[in-house]
Amino acid sequence: MSILLIYFLTILSYTNTLHPWLIEASTRTNNGFSIDLFHRYYSPISPFYNSSMSPKELLQRLVLSSNSRHQQIIWQQSNIEVSTNLIPNVGDYLMQISVGTPPVQLVAAAVTGSDLTWFQCRPCVLCYPHNTTNFDPQASKTYKNLPCDAEHCSNLNTGHINCDQNENLCRYWYTYGNATTITGGVMGTDTFSFSSFDGDEEQAAFPSITFGCGYQQAGFFDSNSAGVVGLGNGPVSLVSQLGPSISYKFSYCLTYPSSHRASKLRFGGMLEDTSEIGGLTTPFVTNDPSSSYSLELNGISVGQLNLNMNREIIIDTGTTLTYIDPSIFYKLEAMVNDAIGASPVSNNPLVEPVLCYDPDESALNPPDIVFQLSGGDLVLKANNIFFVLDHYLCLSIAKSPKDGDPMVLGNMAQTNLEIEFNLLSKTVRFTPKYCSQESS
Ligand SMILES: *[C@@H]1O[C@H](CO)[C@@H](O)[C@H](O)[C@H]1NC(C)=O
Ligand SMILES: *[C@@H]1O[C@H](CO)[C@@H](O)[C@H](O)[C@H]1NC(C)=O
Ligand SMILES: *[C@@H]1O[C@H](CO)[C@@H](O)[C@H](O)[C@H]1NC(C)=O
Repeated sequence: MSILLIYFLTILSYTNTLHPWLIEASTRTNNGFSIDLFHRYYSPISPFYNSSMSPKELLQRLVLSSNSRHQQIIWQQSNIEVSTNLIPNVGDYLMQISVGTPPVQLVAAAVTGSDLTWFQCRPCVLCYPHNTTNFDPQASKTYKNLPCDAEHCSNLNTGHINCDQNENLCRYWYTYGNATTITGGVMGTDTFSFSSFDGDEEQAAFPSITFGCGYQQAGFFDSNSAGVVGLGNGPVSLVSQLGPSISYKFSYCLTYPSSHRASKLRFGGMLEDTSEIGGLTTPFVTNDPSSSYSLELNGISVGQLNLNMNREIIIDTGTTLTYIDPSIFYKLEAMVNDAIGASPVSNNPLVEPVLCYDPDESALNPPDIVFQLSGGDLVLKANNIFFVLDHYLCLSIAKSPKDGDPMVLGNMAQTNLEIEFNLLSKTVRFTPKYCSQESS
């Protein structure tokens, strides 16, 4: 039996006895609850929205941050010592979450490739500047430091925990990449609440959620978020902690960034059987230690042309582009060129490694690209995986630095799909959907 399952069973009994009102929260919201996800550069309600940035500047910024996040995933998967379930470059989709009593609204990145939820906390010994609130545990009546013997303290990679028995504090300390970026803090618990936008405005509130309170952050942090909400599948992730209250399920539907519409993140609830409208269910495997979700990729096809492979691909909300092995990429590029009837321009309007095509050269007819997953074909529609820059048409699939680097299915490829994660059946379900419809 997996540790995760034992953990779920523990949580089940724990919930029934110690937190009767957590059950109440779950019955109140037995259709689940959904919240808005907003793009940190494209959404006008994002604290990091800059209306003076041109579309080209925005895309350049996205590609650079996507490359740097992919680099972190490479480091994370290749070296246990620098590996961490905390990621400093936190990704594109932000959510609002209220923590503490009285609740304080925080902005954090929602990331499927990370486990631990953490926020910058006051008083900061060393914090990176940003324009949103840092959490102040002393101002919350319900905040508690996590004691050393707590299960969630031992669930964290022990190399990163320094439990001070005198103080009985579960301290964590992580470095990233080349060890020039560090974060340190104290694990604690508090009430998390979400504004539910399903009809009424009632809040879904959950007591005693474990998270990291970061007091020291230094190095190459992306200053565009005050924290991370970990949607990975390890025991400390928020979805594992909400567990039975959300039927161990969450889903999201990402709108295309330049639509400026909010995306949806849903916890719990049931989706209808959608197999007849092109849905597909595929198993995921887990990539310790990052707790990200990896799918089995058996091939990629464009029209009648097909590339076979036997690889895993991480599905991540935090990475913009999709990254594949260079050797696969060059073959895909030839197939795409063939379908489009043109070669990519040499004077790239964007930054490496993105390919852009010039419609002046021929009437462009961008193809759909199919990722053959173990449960069926995931059709990535041309208008989701190609994006327009000035008058160019650019592909959001790019090459990794080298063959064998972790492949990542990025968030542009995930737009206009309802993507549901089920942590009990360990499956991911993809259903084609026009995600903007749900937003109001
Ligand atoms: C952050 O806030 C300061 C002061 O209000 C403002 O000058 C600055 O432009 C803001 N930065 C961003 C990235 O929004
Ligand atoms: C917003 O974007 C403009 C144009 O690139 C830039 O000059 C300005 O510094 C940016 N403002 C902030 C607060 O980042
Ligand atoms: C560490 O990584 C950062 C960001 O990628 C880079 O700017 C810096 O030069 C690196 N430092 C060393 C010592 O390699």
